[in-house]
Amino acid sequence: MAGWGKWALMAVALAGTAAHAQPAADTAPTAFPQRATAYPDRPAIAVGVAWYPEQWPEERWDTDLKMMRDTGFNTVRIGEFAWSRMEPVEGKFDFAWMDRAIAAAQRHGFMVVIGTPTAAPPAWLTQTYPDTLRIDEKGVRAGHGGRRHFSFASQRYRDFSRRIATEMAKRYGRHPAVVGWQIDNEVGPPSWDPEAIAAWHAFLKQRYGTIDNLNKRWTTQYWSQFYNSFDQVPLHQTGQQNPGLLLDFRHFTTRMWTDFIQNQAKAIRPLIDKRSFITTNTMFWNAGFDHFVMHRDLDIASWDNYIPDGRPDWVANGANHDLVRGYKQRNFWLMETQPGRVDWVPVNRALDPGQVREMAWQAVAHGADAILYWQWRPAANGQETYHGAILGQDGKPNPIQPEIARVSADLTRAAPLLADTAPAADVAMLYSYDSRWAIDLQRHHRDFDPIKAFTDFYRPIRVQSQGVHVISPDADLARYRLVVAPNMMVMTETEAAALEAYVRGGGHLVLGPRSGMRDDANALYPRTQPGPLADLLGAEVAQYYALDEGVSLTGAIAGKASIWAEELTPTAPDVRTIATYRDPGGWLDGKAAIVTRKVGSGSITYVGAWLDPATMNTLAADLLAEAKVTPVIAGAHPDFEIAEREGKGKRILIAINHGKDARALTLPAGAKPAGGDWAGGRVAAHGVAWFTLPGSPR
Ligand code: GAL
Repeated sequence: MAGWGKWALMAVALAGTAAHAQPAADTAPTAFPQRATAYPDRPAIAVGVAWYPEQWPEERWDTDLKMMRDTGFNTVRIGEFAWSRMEPVEGKFDFAWMDRAIAAAQRHGFMVVIGTPTAAPPAWLTQTYPDTLRIDEKGVRAGHGGRRHFSFASQRYRDFSRRIATEMAKRYGRHPAVVGWQIDNEVGPPSWDPEAIAAWHAFLKQRYGTIDNLNKRWTTQYWSQFYNSFDQVPLHQTGQQNPGLLLDFRHFTTRMWTDFIQNQAKAIRPLIDKRSFITTNTMFWNAGFDHFVMHRDLDIASWDNYIPDGRPDWVANGANHDLVRGYKQRNFWLMETQPGRVDWVPVNRALDPGQVREMAWQAVAHGADAILYWQWRPAANGQETYHGAILGQDGKPNPIQPEIARVSADLTRAAPLLADTAPAADVAMLYSYDSRWAIDLQRHHRDFDPIKAFTDFYRPIRVQSQGVHVISPDADLARYRLVVAPNMMVMTETEAAALEAYVRGGGHLVLGPRSGMRDDANALYPRTQPGPLADLLGAEVAQYYALDEGVSLTGAIAGKASIWAEELTPTAPDVRTIATYRDPGGWLDGKAAIVTRKVGSGSITYVGAWLDPATMNTLAADLLAEAKVTPVIAGAHPDFEIAEREGKGKRILIAINHGKDARALTLPAGAKPAGGDWAGGRVAAHGVAWFTLPGSPR
């Protein structure tokens, strides 16, 4: 969401290869000692803030850094957006100020994350080379003054980006305070400039080989779309276009942004200490590119978690954390989060007292090893003067500062326990970018929002199981007792084979509505849902219906469905129908809505309807019971978010009370309080408590 209030979420970029002449870098060699040891006493959990020293007089830096230390911070992120300060004119670099800023941060004991500044090109660049500017789908070229106004396809822009990133890495790559590198900032959106269009054609050629193949996969014998050559294919992300083209547009943007990031990552990698990470910060449910693909060659995932309206839906927010953890299936950094409020939605409500701390702990519970706030102090001018910050315009702490200092104190205290632990889960949910895009492109029902559909499945499963990993459809499934694919509408034969192997190996698989309907060119399979898994299921969808009002369900799972209903026809004798529609006078009356089949010691279940929350809750309980998934604390009040991190022989239980009242919690046997707001068997209102658990990690 941090993204969609601000700029379109799509992205694409080219593969143009023409070498662009590199002006010689006019910069002194680095004067810093090369890093010989890991950052001394590097804390397991980073806590810190985005600091923009270039916006402030140097005389203020020490005061700010001292106040950051007083807030308990151990990390600053600097450099992103400061391109015009580092390279004020083409090829003339000025790093002296940054040398001093990093040295000051080091003096005050900070770890430093460096952001490459390529989200905000300097005016000399866009003015001298207007071909680097982004062109939108309507053909309008971006102007200077905002950010992200470059074309992701511009080879010239990539060359300039690589050069500034290289200069920074030469200088700071082995600096003892520097622990990580963030490439660019929240990449997106795409461009329709001539290089992008050429890259699109090259991409399609690489993907399909021949134009005949493309014509076949996209079924271009439709509305006279047939193409004689790749360069006839238009570049579109929306509109009345072929669904194959529109899905491939997203594949293309994935390729372009991945290449855009790797262009810098590859350049800096040999120049930086090998213990430093390379990442890029991403946004809430961003649909601009496939994040699993983007992260293949990055070291860690990091993201920017904002709750723009200040009204958290904790479970839904947790789902996005789990997705980010899934990009690499390892812990991540929260690179930005709000000190109270944002400034980019119609009503920028602040979170209530205590909720900033809950946000931090929620992130940690879901696998964050860093909490960095955005930002330290609002610049005197610039586009974001109203955004939440830790200091006010007067340079004094805002009312949120003590709460953030408390977060730092908590995490500093808990860090040794949390070190080398990661969220535990017996349940995986599969998140497929292709399916999300394909559904969004042709929802068939206005309200079939793929994120809501995903979250409606996630909600009761997360609350009841207290641990869910969100992973890519091509991830290894064997370690999970239960795998849920809520809307895997696009399902390749390879993915179907992996799911089948999982079930045959004893796993429990649940498919939601629309599963297995289309291939990865977004074409319909010649058999109905779940397509390549219909034989394993022993049932298939006879017809699907968009609902404008709810329909009742009877049977083992009784309740209601809305938005979407599929009529299932069992084809094998051992298939059990666990929900049947009651729809007097309608097509669905008496037809199967949910079916399940045992396969050895595993099972496959198909849920053909969008269930209302209470019905979903009942179904989730049955699915978890069948897969023998048990929560760490059974029967916790719904205000609680419970999570377990485990690793290196440790098990840590985290309990966050998101409610307004103190709540009792029955701890598992052997749990020992380790910190937080635990007193008299209760966790305080908006409070957090953490405990050690006996036993070994799973
Ligand atoms: C993020 C962005 C930051 C800042 C912040 C404000 O999306 O990365 O630079 O704009 O939003 O919420």
